[in-house]
Amino acid sequence: MKRMSRTSGQVLVLAVLALGVLPFQQTWGAEAVIKVGEYASLSGGTASFGSASHKGTVLAVEEINAAGGVLGKQIQLITEDTQSKAGEASTAVRKLISQDKVVAILGEIASSRSLEAAPICQEAKIPMISPGSTNPKVTEVGDYIFRICFIDPFQGTVMAKFALDSLKVKNVAVLTDVKQDYSVGLAQFFREYLTAHGGVVAKEQSYSSGDKDFRAQLTSIKSSKPEAVFLPGYYNEVALIVKQAEQLGLKVPFLGGDGWDSSSLVEIGGQSMEGQYFSNHFSPEDNAPQIQSFVKNFQTKYNQTPDAMAALGYDSARFLADAIRRAGSTDPVKLRDALASTKNFGGVTGSITINAQRNATKSADILVIKGGKFKFMQTVAP
Ligand code: PHE
Repeated sequence: MKRMSRTSGQVLVLAVLALGVLPFQQTWGAEAVIKVGEYASLSGGTASFGSASHKGTVLAVEEINAAGGVLGKQIQLITEDTQSKAGEASTAVRKLISQDKVVAILGEIASSRSLEAAPICQEAKIPMISPGSTNPKVTEVGDYIFRICFIDPFQGTVMAKFALDSLKVKNVAVLTDVKQDYSVGLAQFFREYLTAHGGVVAKEQSYSSGDKDFRAQLTSIKSSKPEAVFLPGYYNEVALIVKQAEQLGLKVPFLGGDGWDSSSLVEIGGQSMEGQYFSNHFSPEDNAPQIQSFVKNFQTKYNQTPDAMAALGYDSARFLADAIRRAGSTDPVKLRDALASTKNFGGVTGSITINAQRNATKSADILVIKGGKFKFMQTVAP
């Protein structure tokens, strides 16, 4: 009896040791897994962006691994939180590159944070793929920097055209977040198209990310009697601005871009967000079978409907896996070349073809907020 129990005890010890050692060996040998880094705002002012893209990325990695991985290896995702703060994105990618030795990096969403980290990835020659940064400067950093979304000269044009041709407004005020490269750029491209096509900027005003009181700017905008307001900001401030505009009696349509996309927009802005418009990368209402199966799988896993950032996160990981497969290796130069030559990759955010500037040429959706939901209105092709 004594002997037997000792034996089973030894077996148990061995099993525990084996279990403890195996995962260690797996991450140890460079051969065992393919390490992919991700940096995203999982907390802070734009936590919704990072949490959503992370969920989409994780879903994609799980699906890829369940189907056998890439080049016979499993993908190991290593994620860093940028906390929505300046300074954290560079720390995150430095750690992913030098400590974790990742083969490629997915991120960030906010253009300012991608712009902070991109020079570090470029210098280290580690391909970086931004799922959602739309400011043109991001990929101009260098030949290792890619994105899978459209850029703001297109997005700004789409919304200016929509204002002029669909809403039939000419006098549009512009309210910009000067802390975000995204907002400053999008405002500029909107203004350029508007004024070149018979429109007028009724008034220019600005604010900074994190501000809570926008009454002074809105009062000034109201006195210029605009027919609409272009508000290229992020959802937190946008919701407060539109709410305060309503309280001040500024009752004209507000228009924005992808930075509006978060369920928090309506949670914070409530009724005041009804009937407002924004452009986006994705609509979960799209009936295409690939989109509906992604929406279903996402809902099953997370019990929520994916937003654009979730869809872009999902596409970014699958886009990278496809390039690693075609490169037949994780060698940075081969991987870079494979990413650059991606053509007609079927994403849930649309077909992805990488152009000479390492951007994707894709359509945008215009959505309207109705009954607290984002309703699909029209797709605009590039
Ligand atoms: N396009 C935004 C930026 O460049 C980020 C964003 C992408 C926000 C997609 C929401 C959805 O900063």
